Amino acid sequence: MKAAEIRQKFLEFFKKRDHTIIPSASLVPENDPSVLFNTAGMQPLVPYLLGEPHPAGKRIANVQKCVRTQDIEEVGDNTHDTFFEMLGNWSLGDYFKQEAITWSYELLTSKDEGFGLDPSRLYITVFAGNDDAPRDEEAAEIWKSIGVPEHRIYYLADNWWSPGDNGPCGPDSEMFYDVTGTLGDMSHDEFLAADDKQQVVEVWNDVFMEYEKKDGKVIGKLSQKNVDTGAGLERLVMALQGKDNIFDTDLFSSIMEVIPEGDLRARRIVADHMRTAVMMAADGVIPSNTDRGYILRRLIRRAVRYSNSLGLSKGMLDIINAVADVYRGVYPNVDQNIDHIKQTVMDEVVKFGKTLQVGLREFEKGERDAFKLFSTYGFPLEMTKELTEELGETIDESKFNEQMRAHQDESREGSGQKFKGGLADHSEMSVKYHTATHLLHQALRTVLGDHVFQKGSNITADRLRFDFSHDAKMTDEEKSRVEELVNEQISRSLPVSYEDIPIAEAEKRGAIGLFEENYGDRVRVYQIGEGDEQFSLEFCGGPHVSNTSELGEGDMRFKIKKEEAVAQGVRRIKALLVPNN
Ligand code: SER
Repeated sequence: MKAAEIRQKFLEFFKKRDHTIIPSASLVPENDPSVLFNTAGMQPLVPYLLGEPHPAGKRIANVQKCVRTQDIEEVGDNTHDTFFEMLGNWSLGDYFKQEAITWSYELLTSKDEGFGLDPSRLYITVFAGNDDAPRDEEAAEIWKSIGVPEHRIYYLADNWWSPGDNGPCGPDSEMFYDVTGTLGDMSHDEFLAADDKQQVVEVWNDVFMEYEKKDGKVIGKLSQKNVDTGAGLERLVMALQGKDNIFDTDLFSSIMEVIPEGDLRARRIVADHMRTAVMMAADGVIPSNTDRGYILRRLIRRAVRYSNSLGLSKGMLDIINAVADVYRGVYPNVDQNIDHIKQTVMDEVVKFGKTLQVGLREFEKGERDAFKLFSTYGFPLEMTKELTEELGETIDESKFNEQMRAHQDESREGSGQKFKGGLADHSEMSVKYHTATHLLHQALRTVLGDHVFQKGSNITADRLRFDFSHDAKMTDEEKSRVEELVNEQISRSLPVSYEDIPIAEAEKRGAIGLFEENYGDRVRVYQIGEGDEQFSLEFCGGPHVSNTSELGEGDMRFKIKKEEAVAQGVRRIKALLVPNN
């Protein structure tokens, strides 16, 4: 069964069980300042797991693009990758454990409607219990009732899923598959050992999200019981195609083919990183020294370094093409943005190829000062670190950091939080800044013109940051007019409300901010000001204040702090709510 059929079969199975299929959201989270990329299928759905009604209803199924880089050092083994697709079915306050578990089992093992996996190669884990929540005997009972032998069900303390320190979470039950086909019955310890050796792989996770976390602590139950399931497509495909590693599946094999023979781990790293780079570029990420641009840059640079070690000085473009071939039929923006993707990735490949040559030569000549290699030759710390570690030595990172600080480096601001997990900061200030972002977006269009579109947004409790398409530096006059326009809407005390309407109607009404991939055919639009008073209408999942006057509470006003270029044709504004004096 090809990966494409597996995606299809999954979605169809749940469609038949009254789920609405929604497309993947972008890899780049919208209005969620806590993560740089969607790292799980649940991330774009957080507001709905917390209780907001989803326009598509209470039963949803999707395939969500994700990026996780925490385990970047593990890439090259059998199962780790940095880009992956998560198949998920969702109950937003609808069904719970009984249905979720029964359907998981049915889909995995049924021969006609499902994937027909051999039940005698399946193992189940459930939550062992702690002070926050009881041992999940309920889940274990359900597994037993549908035919899983008791000795194949293991209670584990780790079976708890939460995306970070804040937000929805709960105990989970994971399904593992014996990819060797030889394991049979195993004791608890034997099972853990087989997991370590990647002889069993997790193919699916059912999370029973009924709890909420705040600042790392479980504070109680949510207003509704949710189900969040996630089946990593790559691993499922591996099980279904009878492979013992993801790189031999049809998601990777055509990419591996264009990478020359040589060290297997290096080849896998190149394949993985280039694949992720292409998918990031498709979603508009551009290499830079901060935040997500930094992650993309690091991935491309690592790929270049490993490809060099394989003697692959040319051929990176072939890899990009091979990746695009795998995903063009699945995610339309891969095809639509193909020229941009090639240019973005190749620019960085070429630039870094040159840097690498010079830096490597210095390192080989004996230069070990990470800061000197960086400041003089642009040779990145990670490279010096990896090369040094390969020699069995370590570098003094704190010394490097001190030198960098002395040298004043903006990039640390972003890289410091680059792997931060966690959920949207729904604090009051963030919500205010979110509404301010909508006001700013419309004000920019009014002042500068309709070519202005949101290119990115990052909101914290301390400020908003907004990237938009525009070719020139804004004049002081333009900036004051935008500020005035936003402040005017704050003093008008406009109501903020939302409506779920068909996409076509939203477009007809001139709603702004629709990115190519969005939820279902019904969408949520937020309007600021009603009827003739309407100032802004924008596609958005919320949350927002209920009246613009809240932004002015405590005698505050909107102020643009900084306006700068971030890329060709893209400007960035940092803005604050500041005391009005
Ligand atoms: N959120 C869970 C995970 O990422 C299940 O989707 O594993």
